[in-house]
Amino acid sequence: MRRKLVVGNWKMHGNRAANAELLAALLAARPYMADVAVCVPALFLHETAATLAGSDLRWGAQDVSEHEQGAYTGEISAAMLAECGCRYAIVGHSERRAYHGESDALVARKAQAALARGVTPIVCVGETLAERDGGQTEAVVKRQLSAVIHQLTHCAAEMVVAYEPVWAIGTGRTATPEQAQQVHAVLRAQLQAATGRGATMTILYGGSVKADNAATLFAQPDIDGGLIGGASLKAADFIAICRAAT
Ligand code: 13P
Repeated sequence: MRRKLVVGNWKMHGNRAANAELLAALLAARPYMADVAVCVPALFLHETAATLAGSDLRWGAQDVSEHEQGAYTGEISAAMLAECGCRYAIVGHSERRAYHGESDALVARKAQAALARGVTPIVCVGETLAERDGGQTEAVVKRQLSAVIHQLTHCAAEMVVAYEPVWAIGTGRTATPEQAQQVHAVLRAQLQAATGRGATMTILYGGSVKADNAATLFAQPDIDGGLIGGASLKAADFIAICRAAT
């Protein structure tokens, strides 16, 4: 039985006062039946670590450099994230693919850099609306995942995968539980074929998950939790989503 995981992706939101309030509320609402994490802007990682240390809540980053160290102005290495106690680093979010030109190959190298330092990559895959309408959904997500599987080779089973249809992110338009389940099943089969451990791996759904649709999504057999954007910024909403994961 896979344990559910709910991860808040704060994106570029928050400030010290609001973060403190949100994290205090998440701590106060424990225990959860699922694993719960927040992926915060890098500048807030230290404070988040200090606040959550000693609790069962986890934290992580929203990106990581593919490089170990060196002259890469503005980048943050996996070793730095590990030193900050990060359990996770999101890699290949569609916003980074779209606005920063991240390729499948780069995403794969970032996932490898994270794993090499003991930081679990949350690898995002997902199709655009045009790709879905063109019947390309399966081909697109399989291509995106395949790049990471080949880069990680024998460690591929260590990653977390997040299926985030681009057309459902921040739009209020959620994939139906059936649409999401269909893609999750494809991804799990691909992971199983590549690693032999697909049944144990965590595949999250992301894209307009809210308190009122989380339970149905999480009830699907291959949906192991969520990667939550907007709703992770409001304590009551995020707590309700975490409680929907049992
Ligand atoms: P929303 O939940 O705001 O749609 O964002 C989803 C997402 O991109 C999480 O990474």
